[in-house]
Amino acid sequence: MPLMAGIALIAYMIGSIPFGMLISQLGGEGDIRKIGSGNIGATNVLRTGNRKLAALTLLCDMGKGSFAVSCGYIFGLVNLTPAISLAAIFVVLGHCFPVWLGFKGGKGVATGLGVALALTPISGVLCCIIWLLGAKFSKISSVGALSAFIAWPLVVIIEYHFNLKEPLLFPALVVSLLVIWRHKANIYRLAEGTEPRIGDKKEQST
Ligand code: G3P
Repeated sequence: MPLMAGIALIAYMIGSIPFGMLISQLGGEGDIRKIGSGNIGATNVLRTGNRKLAALTLLCDMGKGSFAVSCGYIFGLVNLTPAISLAAIFVVLGHCFPVWLGFKGGKGVATGLGVALALTPISGVLCCIIWLLGAKFSKISSVGALSAFIAWPLVVIIEYHFNLKEPLLFPALVVSLLVIWRHKANIYRLAEGTEPRIGDKKEQST
């Protein structure tokens, strides 16, 4: 049990590294929380107009999701499923509620995609494709994110129907619900038709 608590704590600490904020500040764009939506994710970093910083934020946030799950694989030798499930859930919790930023963090999209890739690779790749296609065709980042995380648990169910290995539907479901819940304001704006498109630089902070 202390091992499981340790894995959850390590995953939370990895997730709570606010790469979007650090990269924006080090890249000379200032505090990303005062720009656009105020979110610390890559979509909002893109609103600074600096694509390189946005891409780096995306990679780092995805990387920390995959890395935390990998730690679960390494340290969860005996109880593998609980270990990787806890790592998956707590790294996204860390990103959404980072201790360093007064528990006001991001929406968990890139970190969740990194988790999906490491936890359920086939479903994770499909989830990333759905995210990219959703964002490309709607030109709205949150549409891509919501499509991907509605799809992920469903794709996992379909995948298990053909090849049942580890019961990883629970972490997929928890992470997806968390990401969707963090998009409450985006969902309201989508319903109102006021959600900004990718590349828009001005937006009311939420
Ligand atoms: O990746 C987060 C995205 O889905 C929405 O971000 O800044 O438009 O609220 P934002």
